[in-house]
Amino acid sequence: MEALRTKLQERNATAAVIGLGYVGLPLALEIASAGFNVVGIDLDHNKIATLKAGKSYIGDVSDQTITEAMKTRRFLPTSDFTALGDVDTVSICVPTPLSKSRDPDISFILAATEKIRKYLHIGQLIVLESTTYPGTTDELILPELESSGLRVGKDFYLAFSPERIDPGNDFFNTRNTPKIVGGITAECTEIARIFYSQFIERVVAVSSTKCAEMVKLLENTFRSVNIGMVNELALMCDVLGVDVYEVIDAAATKPFGFIPFYPGPGLGGHCIPIDPHYLAWKLKALNFQARFIGLAAEINGMMPAVVTAMVGEGLNRFSKSIRGSKVLILGVAYKKNVSDCRESPALDIMRMLSEKGAVLSYNDPFVPSLKMNGHTLKSIELTSANIDSQDCIIILTDHSVYDFPRIIDASKLVVDTRNATKHLHEFKDKIIKLGAGNNVVSPYPYEDDTTKAAVNLVAH
Ligand SMILES: NC(=O)c1ccc[n+]([C@@H]2O[C@H](COP(=O)([O-])OP(=O)(O)OC[C@H]3O[C@@H](n4cnc5c(N)ncnc54)[C@H](O)[C@@H]3O)[C@@H](O)[C@H]2O)c1
Repeated sequence: MEALRTKLQERNATAAVIGLGYVGLPLALEIASAGFNVVGIDLDHNKIATLKAGKSYIGDVSDQTITEAMKTRRFLPTSDFTALGDVDTVSICVPTPLSKSRDPDISFILAATEKIRKYLHIGQLIVLESTTYPGTTDELILPELESSGLRVGKDFYLAFSPERIDPGNDFFNTRNTPKIVGGITAECTEIARIFYSQFIERVVAVSSTKCAEMVKLLENTFRSVNIGMVNELALMCDVLGVDVYEVIDAAATKPFGFIPFYPGPGLGGHCIPIDPHYLAWKLKALNFQARFIGLAAEINGMMPAVVTAMVGEGLNRFSKSIRGSKVLILGVAYKKNVSDCRESPALDIMRMLSEKGAVLSYNDPFVPSLKMNGHTLKSIELTSANIDSQDCIIILTDHSVYDFPRIIDASKLVVDTRNATKHLHEFKDKIIKLGAGNNVVSPYPYEDDTTKAAVNLVAH
């Protein structure tokens, strides 16, 4: 342990990062900028070629950062796993999606672990960063690595450290976002803590890998449940005739005990719609039903249909149907100022509108083209003619570059799912805003006789 500790503290250790996506690439570059030599390994040959050409494919990483890292020779992108034989640390940043049956797909973690086992050697630190269910590190990775004959805490070190990167966040990045680490043994935690302390401002050690895995799932379940709650509140406000945004902003003046969350067209990205399912799946195996997770998923999953219904309602005001109407989607990325379309609710909404016969187009300055139903759609320009020819415009992602006053002025009907038209009172007659008391969204009916009876009692 002492040899590795010294190497890490003197920053002459060599690090590997497996998986150079939204998480792994910024991590690899941060480690390199602290003075370590870093090997970045990815199966995707196009990504490796792009990096070698000094180009970035991630919004938060500039071409210049790549070129500089390559120039110093501290960052070596490759698809060759033999490099693992010479490195002191390995960070695993591979995807953890859901399978078709919406169960955890940990095949990427398993594939990476197999490669690591092949090159595992004395004095190596292995850290899993991919989000996964509690127990993955000690129940799956540890036995695989120990099948090499080497022992954890003695010959090699194993820890879990969840990635918290927030793509598109201008302030918080890999360096200034506190990092959780939990090792299999106290030595593993300590070595992982020392490693990350070299390039991350604050490292927080917890007592086990399972605890560290659970921290990440708490963070993302917290978001999913609160977004689910506020989405339901938006539907309530529509029925009540109250503007949900006015309610939230007023509630947010409370200086303690309240954190504002905002409604929207549904969840997106590689984290919030997926991670809570990892936790629910694990608990199901332990005969425990994760009810908040299930309810949040149900409500959040309903939002694309709510938005589709709002479009139908808006067109109805002009005696039009969805079928045959020209509908322009503004923003297909799952959140503002990023290009990531994974799990984006825009895809569901476009599919639903297309099935109902809408003539669809979209604009997204970060997403030049999009595959849908086997066809490639191209982002159209927001010229006055392109806006004016639409029957309805839907604001799904409120990218900062959008000039909303100009767009709304040129349009006939706008469905706003992001409160992007908050200050545009002069156009209020042509705007239908989610949760703004339009009374356009039918609530789901009561299913519970006790609730029905209680409501009747109050009503009479
Ligand atoms: N994207 C985020 O905002 C975010 C934030 C926090 C945590 N996470 C978690 O981090 C993990 C990675 O997410 P991401 O968004 O970076 O994914 P990504 O798809 O952007 O990148 C993963 C990369 O891993 C590569 N890869 C897959 N299998 C491999 C293998 N066996 N060997 C080498 N490379 C392999 C892929 O080619 C890809 O480039 C996931 O578990 C995710 O849940 C993501």
